[in-house]
Amino acid sequence: MSARGGGGGPFPPSIPLLILRIGRRVFSMSGPFILVSPGATRGLGLALTRQYLRSTSLPVYTTHRLESEAHARIKDHIMEPLKDVDPSRLHLLKIDLRSEDSISGASKALQESLAKHGDEKKAYIRTAFIAGGILFPEKSPADLDWDHIKETFQTNVISHLLMIKHFSPFLPARKQYKGEPAKWVHVGARVGSVADNHRGGWYSYRASKAALNQVVKTFDIHLKLHTNNAICVGVHPGTVKTDLSKGYWGSEERSESFTPDDAAGNLVKLVEGLEDHQRGRVWDWAGEEVPP
Ligand SMILES: NC(=O)c1ccc[n+]([C@@H]2O[C@H](COP(=O)([O-])OP(=O)(O)OC[C@H]3O[C@@H](n4cnc5c(N)ncnc54)[C@H](OP(=O)(O)O)[C@@H]3O)[C@@H](O)[C@H]2O)c1
Repeated sequence: MSARGGGGGPFPPSIPLLILRIGRRVFSMSGPFILVSPGATRGLGLALTRQYLRSTSLPVYTTHRLESEAHARIKDHIMEPLKDVDPSRLHLLKIDLRSEDSISGASKALQESLAKHGDEKKAYIRTAFIAGGILFPEKSPADLDWDHIKETFQTNVISHLLMIKHFSPFLPARKQYKGEPAKWVHVGARVGSVADNHRGGWYSYRASKAALNQVVKTFDIHLKLHTNNAICVGVHPGTVKTDLSKGYWGSEERSESFTPDDAAGNLVKLVEGLEDHQRGRVWDWAGEEVPP
């Protein structure tokens, strides 16, 4: 059971969205906030967390899987290049993506944190990046390994489904909130496109990202039918120079290789500019649709 129960979540009042680059200001948890999961230790998620801290004045919740003793160290790590950002805007939640108990526990911790910092009934997700993904780069059927396949699907698909279950109740409802739709974003990959598969290989990663595309479509239909003022999309960041892709930089047919910061900047720009007619589909960093 989600911390907020099922259905549409809270009914926030009309609050202006997308307050980009307005500098530091007093804020509370009675309005929009950002969620990035995972986004606290490294890779694209960390860059997205920093990008939202840098380019908005909203509270940012981000997740990691380390013990709570590591909180201060993780916060320092995230804030290190952000000298002008108010650190009290950053909030950590602990999630191991392979455990539903961990995901549901973090949902309850979010509810408690929102209550502690303001009027939690009026707080809502403005943008959520659900970014869990791992890669075992199988080249041929002989490389397929039960544990690797299982972990790939747990992280790349099942965790996304359970994030929807436990965190989407924090999305705004259409009834009382008339602003720009909130964005619920799954980080996919172009290799999840069946139509675009010209090379083979990476069996479990490709298959998991293809399944994720179906999750995007299905959840977006739910949002449409259940009066949420939110849209769901998938995104492909291009090749990002992270631990996941080490050894493959520049090897894609479209050799787009980005630093994590540049990739995060591209995705935030793309996502914040999305319009209703783009919902339920997968978009690459440049705004081109990735075919199913
Ligand atoms: N890099 C690329 O070129 C590329 C291209 C297309 C799509 N993507 C997608 O972008 C997303 C981010 O990838 P990335 O390149 O940033 O990967 P990455 O550098 O390998 O970072 C992975 C992140 O996921 C966390 N993580 C992994 N397993 C976890 C678990 N069980 N529970 C909690 N956290 C877990 C890691 O936490 P720890 O630090 O604790 O290990 C780390 O923060 C993925 O969905 C990936 O498929 C990446």
